[in-house]
Amino acid sequence: MKRKREQERAGTSHAVLDDFDVFLNHRGPDAKATFVAHLEEALRCAGFRPFLDGRSLMKGNPALQSIDQALEVAKVHVAIVSKRYAESKYCLTELVAMMRSGKPVIPVFYGVEPVDLRWVENGAFAKAFVKHKSRGRTQTKLQEWRDALQALSKITGFRSADYKRDEALLKRDVVNEVSRLTPSNQPVDVEQFRVGLDGSVNRCIQMLEDMGAGPGMLGLVGMGGIGKTTLAREIYNHL
Ligand SMILES: Nc1ncnc2c1ncn2[C@@H]1O[C@H](COP(=O)(O)OP(=O)(O)O)[C@@H](O)[C@H]1O
Ligand SMILES: [Mg+2]
Repeated sequence: MKRKREQERAGTSHAVLDDFDVFLNHRGPDAKATFVAHLEEALRCAGFRPFLDGRSLMKGNPALQSIDQALEVAKVHVAIVSKRYAESKYCLTELVAMMRSGKPVIPVFYGVEPVDLRWVENGAFAKAFVKHKSRGRTQTKLQEWRDALQALSKITGFRSADYKRDEALLKRDVVNEVSRLTPSNQPVDVEQFRVGLDGSVNRCIQMLEDMGAGPGMLGLVGMGGIGKTTLAREIYNHL
């Protein structure tokens, strides 16, 4: 009985976790209102389910014990590194977990340069690291953060400096990169022994093509059990 309840609970938390796939690691006060909010919206429009905060994910899911576990649900991570990013121990802690996850990480150097991440003692993050030191963070912790930043700086990402004239383009390129790195959608299950499905599939696909480019809508109407869902699934797999 107890085990059943545990399984149910695990099942529920899993369903909740299925709601997320792209984690946006960023320092809120720097970039949230501007770039990150737009990026989040663009990702949603492209069919992704982004999330911004590993800690609130943990709070909402008591089954998650650590930030590493919370971020494990993401298929792709995006690190938006702004000028004051390194002041946030949360950003750095998340970054360490992201780099360890083995999942793809896309850096966006937002108003900073990769070299700032490589030499934290000299670049834009020097002050932040002096502060962390004065707050008594251990050498091990500081080194962990330095290593994560250095590793991130070596990944080919996007520099906002390259998009001075057009931030919308930067957003679009990041979304495209997320799509490229997301494991492609698996085909859905369809009735194994189908009868006369191909003709209907081809007719429907022809109708969709006739609608031209851009989104279109096709309605399947008929009595229950006639094969609407089966047809829709097969069309999905063909597309
Ligand atoms: N073309 C087909 N050949 C064989 N079985 C089919 C075919 N279309 C539907 N079925 C089967 O008929 C049942 C009802 O189909 P379903 O697609 O769920 O109908 P609907 O969505 O219209 O209610 C399912 O068990 C499905 O596997
Ligand atoms: Mg149905």
